[in-house]
Amino acid sequence: IADVQDEIDHELVSKEQIERKINEIAALVSEEYRDRDLLLVAVLKGAVNTLATFSQALSIPVQLDFMSLSSYGSGTVSSGTVTIRQDLSTDVRGRHILIVEDIVDSGRTLAWLVEELKRRGAASVEIFALLEKPSRREVEVDVKYHGYEIPDEFVVGFGLDYNERFRNLDSIAVLKPEVYQGVNA
Ligand code: PRP
Ligand code: MN
Ligand code: MG
Repeated sequence: IADVQDEIDHELVSKEQIERKINEIAALVSEEYRDRDLLLVAVLKGAVNTLATFSQALSIPVQLDFMSLSSYGSGTVSSGTVTIRQDLSTDVRGRHILIVEDIVDSGRTLAWLVEELKRRGAASVEIFALLEKPSRREVEVDVKYHGYEIPDEFVVGFGLDYNERFRNLDSIAVLKPEVYQGVNA
């Protein structure tokens, strides 16, 4: 019987570390937005786990919306172009937005999204990213709330996928090399 752990080489960030960091950031955000209506925009699919844990750790009432964006195909390398798979259902004009994202890699997804939300008339746009790979950054992105910096290794879990798999892992991990051998989109 297949077990999600069978293809994992090693863990990079534990469930406990993830939760501790998200709780810290939720406390900061709850304070910062005490007097403003906040709209959380989660970038699907990767941000779904972060959004769930983060939103429940906030002590203020917020609205949630989702935008499904893709910059990766089936491989481990960003294609460089962002595609809207599914748009927001909220009119963002005049809204204070906090984008919730699982990882900043090249920065292309978030750079595009920040510009798009401003173009649509958002009053403010800030970013919370659970993970960042500074060594892979290609475009500048102003992340306000930082989680963990990780090395340039392809990671899965807590929302992050490889070929749409492993999103349900409860920690951040590196796969065994044989899992992606011979595949590079
Ligand atoms: C991944 C990840 C980020 C983005 C980061 O999403 O979840 O959204 O790539 O890469 P970048 O900084 O180079 O743009 P992906 O395109 O794989 O879609 P997914 O969230 O549905 O997995
Ligand atoms: Mn994503
Ligand atoms: Mg992906």
